[in-house]
Amino acid sequence: MFMKGKKGLIVGIANNKSIAYGIAKACRNQGASLIFTYLNDSIKKRVIPIAKELESDYVYELDVTKDDDLKALTKSLKEDIGEIDFIVHSVAFAPRRSLEGSYLDTLRDDFSLAMDTSVYSLVALCRACEDILSKEASILTLSYLGGPKYVPNYNVMGVAKAALEASVRYLAVDLGAKNGIRVNAVSAGPIKTLAASGIGDFKNILNWNEINSPLKKNVTIDEVGNSGMYLLSDLSKGVTGEIHYVDAGYNIMGMCAVERDENGQMVICWDKQK
Ligand SMILES: NC(=O)c1ccc[n+]([C@@H]2O[C@H](COP(=O)([O-])OP(=O)(O)OC[C@H]3O[C@@H](n4cnc5c(N)ncnc54)[C@H](O)[C@@H]3O)[C@@H](O)[C@H]2O)c1
Repeated sequence: MFMKGKKGLIVGIANNKSIAYGIAKACRNQGASLIFTYLNDSIKKRVIPIAKELESDYVYELDVTKDDDLKALTKSLKEDIGEIDFIVHSVAFAPRRSLEGSYLDTLRDDFSLAMDTSVYSLVALCRACEDILSKEASILTLSYLGGPKYVPNYNVMGVAKAALEASVRYLAVDLGAKNGIRVNAVSAGPIKTLAASGIGDFKNILNWNEINSPLKKNVTIDEVGNSGMYLLSDLSKGVTGEIHYVDAGYNIMGMCAVERDENGQMVICWDKQK
């Protein structure tokens, strides 16, 4: 039981397809006690049964873009729980129109909303929880390859993920100096979730990853969950500021996958599939 005795806040479950649900399940399986948040009433209906399933009575409302919500959350956590040992930040949002076509067309308001919800929220959450984090607590966020590299349609969210990954490094230094708190990210391969459904042509991104990754598959929320659990647990006590890929190895590829035909000629696997 790698997480026995640890209490953690899970921000970002929308339903049982959410990556945060996979991480929460992995942590619960290893003995952690969990605290959940929901964005609004329609999501609350799905989070309450998940909290029950994972044996938690602690469910709070939180919009990460609202300072008052963050203040109210930490006040409740202080009163109801006391200290917490880990935080999962699994939150991102950008208007659908900014996740297709050209990045050049991104509107100022859409850019601001994407950065506020998907990047600044990590900073705000860390600061709000600073006083209730235990010594050597661990914080985890979720990124994607569209941050360091170009991925079609990912656009403003790619720029947000690049900023999120930089935030992980800066927060790792600031919080490392305070009680040895660690901050890491899992960069997950594409997974069909509510948030992913907003990305244009997502089905092709999934297919491309499956065909071209070394493991010839897409990852599951359980696989991301187990790796996330490792980063939240004491198993990773020497790791901070890290972006850990859980993507069936796709990020190591310098060229798309190829096979040889009967004449020994190179064939691109993606073309063969069609
Ligand atoms: N699905 C993928 O392919 C993939 C790959 C790599 C990284 N990620 C990242 O994983 C994280 C989780 O996404 P997911 O794919 O599990 O989708 P999801 O839709 O299940 O989760 C996104 C969550 O963000 C929450 N959220 C949005 N705006 C919020 C706000 N203002 N306040 C509080 N919560 C808010 C939503 O309620 C939802 O629970 C995101 O950061 C996403 O970018 C996803």
